[in-house]
Amino acid sequence: MLTTGVAGLATGTVTKFDVDRIRLDFPILNQQVHGKPLVYLDNAATSQKPRAVLEALRRFYIADCANVHRAVHLLSERATTAYEGARKKIQKFLGAADEREIIFVRGTTEAINLVAHSFGKKFINAGDEIVITTMEHHSNIVPWQILCEDKKAVLKVAPINDAGELIVPELEKLLSPRTKLLSMPHVSNALGTINPVREIIAMAHSRNIPVLLDGAQSAPHMAVNVQELDCDFYAFSGHKLYGPTGIGVLYGKTALLEAMPPYQGGGDMISSVTFEKTIYNRLPYKFEAGTPAIANVIGLGAAVDYLEQVGMNQICAYEQDLLAYATDKFERLPGVRMIGTAREKASLISFVMEGVHPHDIGTVLDQEGIAVRAGHHCAQPVMDRFNVPATTRASFAFYNTRREVDALVEGIEKVREVFA
Ligand code: ALA
Repeated sequence: MLTTGVAGLATGTVTKFDVDRIRLDFPILNQQVHGKPLVYLDNAATSQKPRAVLEALRRFYIADCANVHRAVHLLSERATTAYEGARKKIQKFLGAADEREIIFVRGTTEAINLVAHSFGKKFINAGDEIVITTMEHHSNIVPWQILCEDKKAVLKVAPINDAGELIVPELEKLLSPRTKLLSMPHVSNALGTINPVREIIAMAHSRNIPVLLDGAQSAPHMAVNVQELDCDFYAFSGHKLYGPTGIGVLYGKTALLEAMPPYQGGGDMISSVTFEKTIYNRLPYKFEAGTPAIANVIGLGAAVDYLEQVGMNQICAYEQDLLAYATDKFERLPGVRMIGTAREKASLISFVMEGVHPHDIGTVLDQEGIAVRAGHHCAQPVMDRFNVPATTRASFAFYNTRREVDALVEGIEKVREVFA
């Protein structure tokens, strides 16, 4: 039976979840690396693709390849139907009210840049404030820094505690009559923290402040409903959601998107052009200039179909169980310190080891066939907050197993032997 925990996460006994069968859907997992079975634990950086996605890409290029929205010939019709069909799937997957609220972009980074550029151009003036948090990925810092510099606006940063949790009362104190936007992660990529976003969004809305959620690390791990969350913008990347690279989604509420100017100019984003005046296209096309990543959109649609078939609540509960198993093992590892020990976490463990640089840990683990990420995870302020140069991060997907967690722990023992 699955129930819902504090952060709205599904927990409980997972039924119908046969991980060995699921692994067969991901051909890449079945290989040896340095003579050892691959243990892929770098899913927060990018996740692997099920056959259904590979097949959708292949089918498009083999049978349907044509441009969308531009021609009456059959291939173009098929391509357009598949492309717009994927938009509908993603609308449903996110629980958005309208398919016009789904804008295809390259990824979370471009989604945030779109909002910074377009919302920023229209709504941000000198002296206005934008609030972010200490646990941001660089993609939710730098676009706002560029905007603030340009507009003479002010960027404010909400602090986090030693567990890597947002200090909500401190965040609240930063929300002022000058605050024009709160932009924050749903889940931290460096710490795993799941933020209490419902509560924070309600708090911001009571002051008429719109909220952008960076969903890059939440969309792959839990059921997300943008209407229930009531976020104003939500961004995610296809390649972390078991879909192709180079595709992502910006969800935005219609009224806001309607009020925002185009981000880029070109084909498809116009309804008419003369040298005197151009009339922009309606949503969502106003924000989709040029030929889009058609095959990747269709591949992302296939990823969403696949995930819905497995069930996001099943995925979430399975990963929460795996995280609890791994956390318990890590707590017993001498000389290992976890960075990010929030009560509500998505399925990743960031850690440091006494006397061993994270890159060395990553290199030794690689020799054992284990893929992890070592570095600052594009979140240098998080590293500064914890006073570490980098961490090693093992990030789990629903195709990972307890056996693989055991392999990771054995790998860390090996690191200890090598650097003893
Ligand atoms: N942003 C991705 C990560 O956290 C690449 O690893």
